This record gives sequence, structure tokens and C-alpha cells, in this order.
Amino acid sequence: MSEEPRVALKDNPICVALDLTDRAEIMTLAESLESGVGMLKVGLTAYGSCGPELVSDLAQITDVFLDLKLHDIPAQVAGAVSAVEPLGPRFLTVHASGGRAMLEAAVRAADDIEILGVTVLTSLDDDDLSDIGMNGTSSDQVARLADLAMSAGVDGLVCSPLEVSLLRSRFGPVSAGGPILVVPGIRPHGSDRGDQRRTMTPAEAIKAGADHIVIGRPITGSADPLATARAVLAEVIA
Ligand code: C5P
Repeated sequence: MSEEPRVALKDNPICVALDLTDRAEIMTLAESLESGVGMLKVGLTAYGSCGPELVSDLAQITDVFLDLKLHDIPAQVAGAVSAVEPLGPRFLTVHASGGRAMLEAAVRAADDIEILGVTVLTSLDDDDLSDIGMNGTSSDQVARLADLAMSAGVDGLVCSPLEVSLLRSRFGPVSAGGPILVVPGIRPHGSDRGDQRRTMTPAEAIKAGADHIVIGRPITGSADPLATARAVLAEVIA
């Protein structure tokens, strides 16, 4: 592990998505990033490839965002929250569209873990929403699901950069009971957008009101991931 002091989470909003399948590669990357990021994200790819132990091992290094996007009957979701909590992640995602009873069950089951509600996936546009019976614009749907998730007691929301201002002004700052906003779809200046479409730069997303910005491939795929993470941090705290 790095000998440099870890930057406290409140000072470092960068969360790196470890969307890889090889456990050794993930652990090497995590240890090399330790001094430059606030949090690491484990999604379905890494969790499915490496299993729950990956979460507890990474939690020894830094805060972990476990992005499982749960969506099931309330008893199952409550059971999953209780099952993963001992692994030590800081955040766990559930789909807000799972409904009030499911959201409340997740919140009730959570003790030392913070529940984040996923509103509308950034991969869905208005036509996709219409296909699954949701009429109106995606921002109407985001606002509706955010209202539901917040009234069910979630700690925060996952949203695209384009919705940060809307949600921040709708619910206010974290210090006044507003949601922790965790925001993927971030692309530093000069990086490839890849399959992300609705993007902002790190500084733009933080300025709009994001608390944590999720960045994957622009950091994990760079020649020097720690240097890239530090350059992003320098940009957002400038
Ligand atoms: O590599 P990239 O920076 O695009 O990775 C973004 C990460 O954020 C991925 O792990 C992806 O699953 C996640 N994510 C997203 N859009 C959402 C929710 C999560 O891109 N709406």
C-alpha cells in the first residue's frame, strides 16, 4: 500500500469504478490509487467475477461503493442489505422504481451502510421510457422517483450529471437534509467519451452540486491511474 496519507473522503470526491474481472488486477489498482481517491466502486462485473470477499478486502483500503442496483420484493432486498453490510461497504444502490415498500425495507435493514436510490439509468432515453410504459420526459421521471426515494428515507441518489442541479435545488444541500448525490457519466477534459453520452467534466459536476463523482475507464485505462486521479482532483479543488 502507498505510504502517503489517504485523503479524507470529504476532501476527495473521486470514486473510481473498478469494472474489471481479475481480482489481482483490481487489488493492485486499488492499492496504487489509495492515496489519490476518496472511494472505490464495485459493480456487478467485479462482484460477479470476484465475489463478496472483494468488497471486504477493498474496504480495508478505502471506502467502498457497492453498486448492485437491487430491485426485488422487499424481503429479498432487506435480506441482501443485511447480507452485504458485514462486508463493510459505505454505500449500496437500490432502484427507486422498486417502489416505496422495497425502499423502506432497504432503509430499515441498513445499519452501518448508506442506501442510494438509482432514479433513471443514463442509458435510457425518453423513447426507451415510453417503451416500458413511462410517459413524460426523463427529468419528470427522475424527479418523481427521487421524491419517492427521499420520502422513503434513502441517504442519497445516483443521477446523471445533467440532473444534479435539478435534484440539488429540489432537496437542498446535504447539510440541510438533502441527498448525497453520487454522479457517474464524468469525463475529464480530453478523455474519450466511450459509451457515455450525457457527460460533464469533473469540475462542472462538482460545481452543479455533486458530492461524489464516479469515473471508470478514463482513470483505470490510463497509463498512470494515480497521476490521472490526482490531476482530476487538482481540477475540482482549483
Ligand atoms: O468507465 P465509466 O467512467 O463510463 O464508468 C462509469 C461507471 O458508472 C460504471 O461503473 C457504470 O456502471 C456506472 N454508472 C453509469 N451510469 C449510471 C449508473 C452507474 O455509468 N446511471
